[in-house]
Amino acid sequence: MDLQFTVDQTLCIQCGACVDDCPFHIIELTPDFPALNPKRIHHCIQCQHCLAVCPTGALSILGCNPQNSLPLPESLPNGQQMTALIRGRRSIRHFQPEPLDAAVIESMLRTVANAPTGKNNRQCLFTVIEDQASMALFRQETIEGLRTAVTEKRLSDAQSYFRHVVSAWDQGRDIIFRNAPHLFMVSVPKTVSTPDADILIAMSYFELMAASMGIGTLWNAMIRWAFSEISTDMYKRLGIPEDHIKGYALLFGKPAVTYHRTVQRDEVQINRVMLS
Ligand SMILES: Cc1cc2nc3c(=O)[nH]c(=O)nc-3n(C[C@H](O)[C@H](O)[C@H](O)COP(=O)(O)O)c2cc1C
Repeated sequence: MDLQFTVDQTLCIQCGACVDDCPFHIIELTPDFPALNPKRIHHCIQCQHCLAVCPTGALSILGCNPQNSLPLPESLPNGQQMTALIRGRRSIRHFQPEPLDAAVIESMLRTVANAPTGKNNRQCLFTVIEDQASMALFRQETIEGLRTAVTEKRLSDAQSYFRHVVSAWDQGRDIIFRNAPHLFMVSVPKTVSTPDADILIAMSYFELMAASMGIGTLWNAMIRWAFSEISTDMYKRLGIPEDHIKGYALLFGKPAVTYHRTVQRDEVQINRVMLS
């Protein structure tokens, strides 16, 4: 495995920070400069901590130039901004019809790809509908799948809500997709060690990222139920591999509703442990 590990000897101050922070002890300080221990290279999970922790930007791995990283801590939002983001994000159920710029979506997805995954497996597949004709077809096919299940009396009592979804649709009310212009889904191969967490973390990061940019999202369990229990061929239609674990759908787009303040949900259940 060529990790493209290089150290700029004019910048390296031999502080050993990269050696100490490497989670799998792959780097060692040879008498002078950091180097990979050839016997341990195969343990590398490509987390890039060595690049991130180097105080002088002397270290490069996987071909990444440290100068292309955001500088820290000055690039981080402060606690007050994060508080506002977490308290102020909302489930959006009224969207503007205009699609988002494809470049904006691409940049969001590239940022969300930085979310943590178990053992840094980075196997998440981001499925996104950007094209409006595809979104219209997707909505129509999903509704028709639900309609067929209603007509064929295939809905269980627990699924009877979908009857209401179809009749609302026929009356011009979209209570499932909320007229959102875009859809985002995350799936991961069954073989990764932490599939559920990887999916939910990526989706949560997407939601917060979107909220910070004035883009609305709606987590959608209904779509997932519809695809996993009723219209089971829809995942294939969306190009999501059969051997993937699929997450909830996240609808997104420009909100057509403005919230002027946060909600207030400060009740919290805390189990403070005092062992004696
Ligand atoms: C996993 C999950 C699934 C959800 N599914 C739906 C859904 O199918 N339809 C919907 O309108 N809202 C859905 N929601 C949104 C919740 O109803 C919403 O988060 C809750 O009412 C609180 O409102 P807020 O998100 O604005 O704080 C879902 C939320 C989560 C976390």
